[in-house]
Amino acid sequence: DEPLKVVLLGSGTVGTQVARLILEHGDDFAARIGRPLELIGIAVRDLSRQRPGLPAGLFTDDPQGLIDRGEADIVIELIGGIDPARQLILSAIEHGASVVTANKALLAAHGEEIFDAAELAGVDVYYEAAVAGAIPIIRPLRESLVGDSIRHVMGIVNGTTNYILDKMTTEQTDYEAALVQAQDLGYAEADPTADVEGYDAAAKAALLASLAFHTRVNGDEVHTEGITRIVQDDIRAARDVGCVVKLVAIAKQLDDDQISVRVHPTLIPLGHPLAAVGGAYNAIFVEADAAGRLMFLGPGAGGAPTASAVTGDLVTVARNRARGVAGPNQTIYNELRVADMGAV
Ligand code: NDP
Ligand code: HSE
Repeated sequence: DEPLKVVLLGSGTVGTQVARLILEHGDDFAARIGRPLELIGIAVRDLSRQRPGLPAGLFTDDPQGLIDRGEADIVIELIGGIDPARQLILSAIEHGASVVTANKALLAAHGEEIFDAAELAGVDVYYEAAVAGAIPIIRPLRESLVGDSIRHVMGIVNGTTNYILDKMTTEQTDYEAALVQAQDLGYAEADPTADVEGYDAAAKAALLASLAFHTRVNGDEVHTEGITRIVQDDIRAARDVGCVVKLVAIAKQLDDDQISVRVHPTLIPLGHPLAAVGGAYNAIFVEADAAGRLMFLGPGAGGAPTASAVTGDLVTVARNRARGVAGPNQTIYNELRVADMGAV
């Protein structure tokens, strides 16, 4: 069978693990897809950097040139940020490629443009890795629970801040040292401001709310407060009243017209399941009319866990492509207003 051609944009913490999985598990993936995959190029910024274990001949520092060759069936975007990721994804779609991305910042700001372009072109945009690392949460909301009515989504969706707060709580590590550890472990964004100021969690909350309520929420509509002002005194004061401090994202339906979507540090009682979520783990509760309460728990950041979600999307998108179909796109039929905090 003719191979499906794959282009990888970015070979950092996540991209390197994705490339390894594709190269090491090619035969398994081919069996699951019904067609082989061929990795035809990897775009990076710095060509002089050593990339042990990955074929040097695959690398280029010209991602646009790689897309414009027009050979790719599937483009995996793991560069991050808005530019050039936005233009590269739009170009890939224009060339008829399906897209897999982990880029929550981009989708929370420009999702409408990207999903509309994909719908028009009849290609997939899958982004399971954009929220909560290895935890399957996008597909459960977009597919498994699409026959139910979701009322409430809440949880811990940023691994870096959970790691920092956990270290501050259990080992009295100071904030700066814990942040450096989270960066060294590959949990933090290239600019960790996005993590500690809550913007990364806000982007994820926007994506979750959009799916849960079949509406469109942008990251900048989310009331957002990060953890930069949390000090050891706050952690101790929380413990004195039987609580821990967690950065929590909450999206809930207020009435027929309004939802509230917010991210802020929250006191969690020690007996609550979220209190036990340590390290860079994430946990998300979903409450739906018929299903009741569901909890999703697992590694929320890091190269290998995130690569699991990316390659899951890759195999799914490749299967769709091999059969000449596209999977579900965003279903937007509600025009819900995001309430300001005064209404919550
Ligand atoms: P890194 O910063 O580790 O890697 C980014 C990669 O993109 C690097 O290989 C870099 O090249 C390359 N790159 C950057 N700019 C350009 C450019 N202009 N042209 C070509 N290549 C470029 O990021 P991560 O792997 O951590 O994150 C990637 C994406 O995954 C982001 O969207 C992030 O939000 C998301 N994500 C990350 C998670 C994590 O735990 N790290 C978890 C879930 C999602 P070079 O190697 O030469 O520097
Ligand atoms: N920086 C993000 C986090 C990566 O710490 O959760 C996973 O999306």
